[in-house]
Amino acid sequence: MPLLHTLPDTMLAMEIHEPGGPEVLKPARVPVPVPGHGQILIRVAYAGVNRPDALQRAGNYAPPPTASPLPGLECSGHVAAIGPGVSRWAPGDAVCALLPGGGYAEYALAPSDHALPVPHGMGLREAACLPETCFTVWSNVVLRGGLRAGERFLVHGGTSGIGTTAIQIARALGARVFTTAGSDEKCAACLGLGAERALNYHEADFVAMMAEVGGADVILDMVGGSYLPRNVRALADDGRLVQIAFLTGPKVELNFAELMVRRLTITGSTLRPQSDLAKSRYARELETHVWPMIARGALAPVMDSEYPLDQAPAAHWRIESAGHIGKIVLKVG
Ligand SMILES: NC(=O)c1ccc[n+]([C@@H]2O[C@H](COP(=O)([O-])OP(=O)(O)OC[C@H]3O[C@@H](n4cnc5c(N)ncnc54)[C@H](OP(=O)(O)O)[C@@H]3O)[C@@H](O)[C@H]2O)c1
Repeated sequence: MPLLHTLPDTMLAMEIHEPGGPEVLKPARVPVPVPGHGQILIRVAYAGVNRPDALQRAGNYAPPPTASPLPGLECSGHVAAIGPGVSRWAPGDAVCALLPGGGYAEYALAPSDHALPVPHGMGLREAACLPETCFTVWSNVVLRGGLRAGERFLVHGGTSGIGTTAIQIARALGARVFTTAGSDEKCAACLGLGAERALNYHEADFVAMMAEVGGADVILDMVGGSYLPRNVRALADDGRLVQIAFLTGPKVELNFAELMVRRLTITGSTLRPQSDLAKSRYARELETHVWPMIARGALAPVMDSEYPLDQAPAAHWRIESAGHIGKIVLKVG
């Protein structure tokens, strides 16, 4: 196993002490993981914080059986060691990577195919915020939802990590972007990212907004609950609703006749439990289609705030307060 430098036996990590609020994230010294076949070990510089980390911390999003129990679905840093069978990366390479878990630590393991080069001219801080949202948005909006240039795209939660990425990718594809958010300040941020209209959902009805423009061809939704029948009404004929979370619950009464008569599609996915092969394919799609968007200045992470690794509880308070706009990162190395 080629080494960049002598690796320590143990590292600082933030563990989930027990299921609960942000305060259950506690610093601990744990063994530095050893890369197996096809894996790389990353010396973590920054770790992205995502809403699913808070779900995992609360005991509602168990890691896959083979994943690290530590939270953290994305990071940036330098390759510290490579396992057998890895040819693309060498120790010292700057990468960002989608992780099955384990990002809240000084070292993290990633399948080598789930790492991407840090985009030219981008810092490690921003690069740490790319993988989780880019993999999720591309696989759901483009591969499942089939969004094309000229189509009308509605994304709820426009200032979330996911939302800020979805607005920019959809604009870069040539789609018309509509969004909802919980305050006027957040709506202004969405317009600044290229949305054509941004609606404060406390004050107005997104179904009416979409009716005025002929309905949405694709909707990306994380709210669920009462939004489900309203999303169906907001779709144009042949429209596609892509569900990536249910912040307000997964169960509703829905009249499916409308799906049949107007040829609608309801789909959705969650990234983490998908196979390594599926994630490798998404990574190649990102490198082909999304990294060039970054290179030409059409996409950059919207940065909200940064916390040191051992202040991960404060980062979780922030993401759960919903006061943030864009991405929250932990500074690790
Ligand atoms: N399926 C997947 O593979 C996958 C992957 C990553 C993330 N996700 C999900 O995608 C969502 C966004 O993730 P993230 O990391 O970007 O989180 P985030 O930045 O915390 O975003 C959550 C957003 O949801 C909005 N929101 C919360 N409650 C709402 C409500 N009742 N009605 C409307 N909007 C509401 C909040 O903004 P407002 O103030 O505007 O309400 C906030 O911007 C999360 O639900 C997460 O679990 C799914």
